Amino acid sequence: MSGIIEKLAGTGDLTDGELASLIGTDEHDGELYKTADEARRSVYGTDVYIRGLIEFTNYCKNNCYYCGIRRGNEKASRYRLTAGQIFSCADTGYELGFRTFVLQGGEDPHYTDEMICEIVSGIKRRHADCAVTLSFGEKSEESFRAYWSAGADRYLLRHETADPAHYRMLHPASMSLEDRKQCLWNLKKIGYQVGSGFMVGSPYQTVANIIADLRFLQELRPAMIGIGPYISHKDTPFRDFASGTVELTLRLVSVLRLMHPYALIPATTALGTIAPDGRERGLKAGANVVMPNLSPTSVRKYYLLYDNKICTGDEAAECRHCLDARVALAGYGIVVARGDVKTREAKKVAV
Ligand code: 5AD
Ligand code: FES
Repeated sequence: MSGIIEKLAGTGDLTDGELASLIGTDEHDGELYKTADEARRSVYGTDVYIRGLIEFTNYCKNNCYYCGIRRGNEKASRYRLTAGQIFSCADTGYELGFRTFVLQGGEDPHYTDEMICEIVSGIKRRHADCAVTLSFGEKSEESFRAYWSAGADRYLLRHETADPAHYRMLHPASMSLEDRKQCLWNLKKIGYQVGSGFMVGSPYQTVANIIADLRFLQELRPAMIGIGPYISHKDTPFRDFASGTVELTLRLVSVLRLMHPYALIPATTALGTIAPDGRERGLKAGANVVMPNLSPTSVRKYYLLYDNKICTGDEAAECRHCLDARVALAGYGIVVARGDVKTREAKKVAV
């Protein structure tokens, strides 16, 4: 084994220089994926957890330069789902074997904390054995606490980039990395299983930025780590920037798996969008989660963060079956379970 991968697998860490050289070459890719896959198998076996994604609003008060549902995109057709529509997505998902529902949306002030709490507790009442994950941006600590009390289990909030200067290049001045990080620490303090992550190949991103992302994730130690390639969207200010690559994304999935053997790492939809077998390759490089869409088919084509998003015409059941086949072909198996994060402590008890 190359010394650098052996060190990463053995200690979960590398120096900045070592990381830069590992990330900067395709020389070790085969060995890197294999070692990361071994690490995921030693904790999660061949299990793949599925999350039913309910994209409940594409209204957003923010204006991130990369995102297709940014406020400034007047071409986006906007929609909101009612609590009833969300419950019916969850009911369909439950029948299909989903035991985690992810409520994802733009930052949409239409949904008051009270409404969110009703939606969360409504899902938990209907499906007590399920986890509810929230993912709709920055909120006050008080709001996060209210959702937690209503029964929410997890929160996904990517930091996007851990370099403040780079953060300012991707977002308008109304947003800051400091606020984003504060939300993440608040969520952890409250008790959520927290997810964070970043886009690979976002405009102006440097290798030093990526290393800062890896360092921030080492500090945060999130339960979930989501990374996917940046993909340009034709109606954003970043329309002319190139998208990120499958190769660099996979390499980083493997590095993250070796740094965080217990983390839940999705093979993202963005990865499946830039390569037809992207999600399968993500699983083989160390990912252990997939997040298919449960949104009603009628609104799916409007939740477009980037161009050419996959699965926008498919029914939930079609995605479920398609994924079953894809996951099996890659050598893993979807399990019907909440799929909570495992910890080193739990593993010790188990053996
Ligand atoms: N390409 C890839 N990922 C994107 N996201 C937003 N816009 C894009 C894009 N153009 C990601 C962000 C966000 C997550 C929900 O989707 O990282 O946190
Ligand atoms: Fe949606 Fe394959 S996962 S069609």
